[in-house]
Order: sequence, then structure tokens, then C-alpha cells
Amino acid sequence: MSFDDYNKREGMTPRQIADLFTSVASSYDQIWTIPSYRDPIHVSECVSDFFKEDKRASVRILDVAAGTGMLAEQLWKKGFRQLDGLGPSSGMMGEAMKKGVYTNYYLEFMDENPISTLKTDTYDCVVAAGAFNIGLLPCAALLEMVRLVKPGGVICFGILDARFTEVKDYIDRLEPLMQWLEQDGAWQLLDKKHYDDSYDQDPGNLFRYIVRASDVQVKQYIQKLRHAH
Ligand SMILES: C[S@@+](CC[C@H](N)C(=O)[O-])C[C@H]1O[C@@H](n2cnc3c(N)ncnc32)[C@H](O)[C@@H]1O
Repeated sequence: MSFDDYNKREGMTPRQIADLFTSVASSYDQIWTIPSYRDPIHVSECVSDFFKEDKRASVRILDVAAGTGMLAEQLWKKGFRQLDGLGPSSGMMGEAMKKGVYTNYYLEFMDENPISTLKTDTYDCVVAAGAFNIGLLPCAALLEMVRLVKPGGVICFGILDARFTEVKDYIDRLEPLMQWLEQDGAWQLLDKKHYDDSYDQDPGNLFRYIVRASDVQVKQYIQKLRHAH
């Protein structure tokens, strides 16, 4: 089974999906070709637009669902040097580490649970490319992203328009959670940039949120998500 056979991923456990990525890791970059998959490029452009060139080398960035490091490669080209990766697939991590673009790579799932090795307010920026899809980041990963970014820092991720309605976990949950976090003062939308070509011809948005307070009430949001559908 191919990693991008999305419908078959429905019903698989997070561990099975991580193992699926491991099984394709060595050919991932060739399959997932840059010309048709533009999310890493878009995310890196939006992050570069936020941080001045002379400061970039010291900006601490966590790349969530880092995979083989395609986004980190783009960020590296723009002058960012303090990059950590995070993802659950050992095979993807192995490929990423060959590229020398990450200082640390945390072999972890991101969800609502705090990652014990990472302290609150560690990063200036969290990024995620190709990370919101069937079987990948759960909605509640946003809560952990907010915890990890210092107030005033930025979270930048892309989501294809169709994912909000075709990924079961996201229907009536992902967009509301993004809004609840804003209403509650945890983060503030800086902007949302629309692209016609995030992946192949599929349109999507690149979101940039400024973190305002990292002490999110995780349990309260999990309750709200449970009741959302
Ligand atoms: C489509 S790949 C994207 C990789 C990379 N960001 C890119 O743009 O090429 C999705 C990645 O998400 C990882 N992943 C799946 N579930 C995850 C989770 N809960 N937390 C973090 N990463 C996850 C997979 O192991 C895989 O490497």
C-alpha cells in the first residue's frame, strides 16, 4: 500500500501509519516530487517573511510531522539554522538525518499530550507541511504546538481546503478549534494566504498564527472536541 492511498489510511492506528511511512521513507522524496507538492515551499516563504534575514540563524524552529526534512531543506536555504524535527517514523527520521538539516529529531507523535522532553515556550516558531490529512496530525496537536511556542512567536502550517470536510477527525472540529483558540486569547491569526496549487491543482491555505499565551487548558478543549461530533 502506498503512503498516499488516503482512503486506506482511514481506520489504521497512528503506529501503523508511522510504520507505513517508514516502509516508503527511502523513496519518499522521489515520489513526493517538489513540482507537484508545494507546501514546504509555501511554508518556508511565509516563515521567511516573518523573520528578518539577519536574525534567521538564531530562530528556534520545530518542524512537526517533519518526515524526511523537505521543509527543513527549504528553511535551510533561507538561512534558518536552529531546526528540530518531530515525527513518529524512524525510517523518515533516518532519511532526514542524512541531510544534516536538523539539530534534534524527536521520534514522537504530536497530539494533545505534552511531549515530556520539550519544555513550554521552547520555540520561536512551529511549522508543519503536509501534516493535516487522514491519519496524520489530530486536531489536538494544535494545543501542543501552542504550548511549545513562546508568546510572540509564530505557528505556520498549510491545509488543503478539502481536508476540512473530507477528513473525519477534522469535520466540525479543526476549524472550530482554531477559532476557539483565538477567542480564548491563546493565539491570533496573523494572516491566511490562499494558494491554488498547494498540492497538484488542489487549493489550500497557509495559516500564520501568533501565539499570545502558551498555557492552554488542554482538558477543556478535549472536552469541547469530544462534543463537537
Ligand atoms: C506527508 S508526510 C509530510 C512530511 C514533511 N512535512 C513533508 O512536507 O514532506 C507526513 C508525516 O507525518 C508524520 N506523522 C504522522 N502522524 C503524526 C503525528 N501524530 N505527529 C507528528 N507526525 C506525524 C508521518 O510519519 C509522516 O512523516
